[in-house]
Amino acid sequence: MVARSLKRTFRASRGGGEVQALAGVDARIERGEIFGLLGPNGAGKTTFIKILTTLLFPTTGEAEVAGFDVVRDAVEVRRRIGLVSGGESSGYGILTVRE
Ligand SMILES: Nc1ncnc2c1ncn2[C@@H]1O[C@H](COP(=O)(O)OP(=O)(O)OP(=O)(O)O)[C@@H](O)[C@H]1O
Ligand SMILES: [Mg+2]
Repeated sequence: MVARSLKRTFRASRGGGEVQALAGVDARIERGEIFGLLGPNGAGKTTFIKILTTLLFPTTGEAEVAGFDVVRDAVEVRRRIGLVSGGESSGYGILTVRE
């Protein structure tokens, strides 16, 4: 995985301003590497993972997963990844681990 100057802003839920969730992330994670992404609440961890898994577009910057661009080649990225989220929308309680 490679990320270059990845930025993402959201429209603020109130006040009409913008929230900068990612302010230019550069990262490189090699194949087979186990990588822990740590940060306080609101640091942008989920935003980063959503961009890498093609669930969200970056505002600017780019990222590749397994050599494929997460925006231009989203279908190829999706073929190569699996995501189990700990959030409310995950498969916990719906699917078993084996399923
Ligand atoms: N859909 C959205 N609309 C507006 N703001 C958002 C949205 N999603 C995230 N944000 C804001 O972007 C910032 C980063 O949020 P994100 O959820 O990526 O952080 P996180 O590191 O995953 O936090 P947590 O540890 O609480 O899961 C926060 O300020 C958050 O309020
Ligand atoms: Mg999160």
